[in-house]
Amino acid sequence: MKTIGVLTSGGDSPGMNAAIRAVVRSSIYHGCKVIGVKQGYHGLINGFMDEMNLSSVADIIHRGGTILQTARSEAFMTEEGRKKALYALQIFGIDGLVVIGGDGSFKGAQKLTELGIPTMGVPGTIDNDLRYTEYTIGFDTAVNTVLDAIGRIRDTSASHGRANIIEVMGRHCGDIALYAGLAGGAESIIVPEIQFDIDNVCSKLIKGRNRGKLHSIILLAEGVGGALDIGKEIEEKTGMETRVTILGHIQRGGSPTSFDRIIASKMGARAVELLLEGKKNRALGIKGLETIDVDFEEAFNTTNKFDEDTYRLANILSI
Ligand code: F6P
Repeated sequence: MKTIGVLTSGGDSPGMNAAIRAVVRSSIYHGCKVIGVKQGYHGLINGFMDEMNLSSVADIIHRGGTILQTARSEAFMTEEGRKKALYALQIFGIDGLVVIGGDGSFKGAQKLTELGIPTMGVPGTIDNDLRYTEYTIGFDTAVNTVLDAIGRIRDTSASHGRANIIEVMGRHCGDIALYAGLAGGAESIIVPEIQFDIDNVCSKLIKGRNRGKLHSIILLAEGVGGALDIGKEIEEKTGMETRVTILGHIQRGGSPTSFDRIIASKMGARAVELLLEGKKNRALGIKGLETIDVDFEEAFNTTNKFDEDTYRLANILSI
């Protein structure tokens, strides 16, 4: 293997730059040429590529976003689009490709392997919704961003004696809500994986208020939907003034935490090693802080689900 390509795809996440840096520097360390593909699969189809060197990735480990930019490509979903991508890979002499992104991006990588280009998937998404790995790059940073927001909203919540709903990202996954909610001492955590009972949420709020609690924070995962309606219902049922904050894309930005930088560095470097060992079609991951890799198919089929023990704990601690 002489030339390794790298791209970021899907929603960006803090730590993607650290992963790009690891791919570029370890490829060069092992004597390979590296090509950076801009704008994910969209750029691959259109040949937006440049050779990268040690300096291309200087001063990026601490930066949010992705220097290679990213996109969600409709065209790559078609056979014609993938043929164009394959052609561009051949023109640039790319023998192996590292795709940094979420499950949709990994499905694209799997298709490229089928077309004869060995690929590796490095999990980059704030959602932490890939179940074969304990952590995805960006999740820890997003949780810390939400924690910061909880602290700020708690100040105003206590000043007014209100209930505050904070809607967080995660697509269909409740991990950001769960971990930020536990770490931030939220009164209730509402996630798509667990059926919730609005009366339980309200009764907790009333009990808290009756024993003199000034603030009330409810973390709501976006996958549940209906934040504004839930807010209205809580206000009607408890008589507490209720406000809803949708945190949105603020959760996707910012300097990555040390944890995200470290797992990004480990998985990016290991992806290159695996390509050099002649492996293909593998998804990198983290288990017990060790770097692991599994076949893409296994990654897609791993469904050991939501961390119910932690959810139970958060409920116990917020009685
Ligand atoms: O997958 C990451 C994510 O931020 C999700 O949490 C969210 O649902 C989605 O992307 C938002 O996508 P976009 O930035 O395209 O609006």
